[in-house]
Amino acid sequence: MPSPQVVVVGSYVQDLCFYCDSFPRPGETLTATSRTGPGGKGSNQAVATGRAGARTLYVGAIGADAFGREAKAFYRAEGIAAKWAVKPTQPTGTAAIMVDAAGQNEILVCLAANARLAKADLPLKALREAEIVITQLEANLTAAAAALKIARENDALTVLNPAPMRPDFKPSILRYVDILIPNESEFVELINRLQPDNKKKLTTAALMKLPLPQLHQLCGTFGVPVVIVTLGERGCFISRADGYLEVPAFKVKSVDTTGAGDAFVGGFAAGLLAQQRDLAAAARHGCAVAALSVTDPKHRALHAPRRGHPTLPPTKPLIHPS
Ligand code: RIB
Repeated sequence: MPSPQVVVVGSYVQDLCFYCDSFPRPGETLTATSRTGPGGKGSNQAVATGRAGARTLYVGAIGADAFGREAKAFYRAEGIAAKWAVKPTQPTGTAAIMVDAAGQNEILVCLAANARLAKADLPLKALREAEIVITQLEANLTAAAAALKIARENDALTVLNPAPMRPDFKPSILRYVDILIPNESEFVELINRLQPDNKKKLTTAALMKLPLPQLHQLCGTFGVPVVIVTLGERGCFISRADGYLEVPAFKVKSVDTTGAGDAFVGGFAAGLLAQQRDLAAAARHGCAVAALSVTDPKHRALHAPRRGHPTLPPTKPLIHPS
């Protein structure tokens, strides 16, 4: 078997989704329709890269339970390679997801087995040989940092989606990151954590109104070569030392935005491979995969064309120079 192009180290979670007209208020009970299925930011991203045609290996932790068995069966059916760390004392992670009539969501996630993903569970050979290694903050943070470090030392492109932002997040992980992909709220949280002495805290509302050169300047705070801020319906913003660029989203009717950020990350990584590492083209591919994902009520059914990948010449300059 050829080695994977993309290794995704991260969470697998059984999603329990409830669809309602509006979110319940505290103390209120409402009726809803529901469905359950595979989720977790890490797994969603691996499914997106795999379905978009990149040879993918997913690495995650599950319990020795029915949800864990479903996870394995799901990956077999998808034809995506997975390395499972089974944690017999822990249940598989679960998430309670509420989606309202406007397609917005509220999510509670119980990490369970994901929190026990260990450095020893990492597939060293695959990490050393991968072209791209992706991780998030939804599994074990030490294992995530170790995966990025190994990848970095072996010249893979490292991608961190800092989701969900957590109190135990350590900025030191950023030293192993080539491409950081936060959404608006993660970006704000990161900036406020890295600039604790700033009297005026950044807010999401203020971020959305920032002139692009200022947003570009703020991206420099992280000391990461490339920052891509996903901006929901606006698309995304790419910042690199030599310039910045806003990539608009595709206009679609959104049914359920759950996992849209994951679809973007996976679509972006597959796009990097397919588009000669051109950041803008890869981001457009990420936006396309994210747009498709929000239109589908089975939101993690991320349709994306399967294709082969050429070898990788250097990336093109961005449009607005610094
Ligand atoms: O990003 C969406 C994912 O976050 C869901 O699939 C859910 O599992 C939560 O982890």
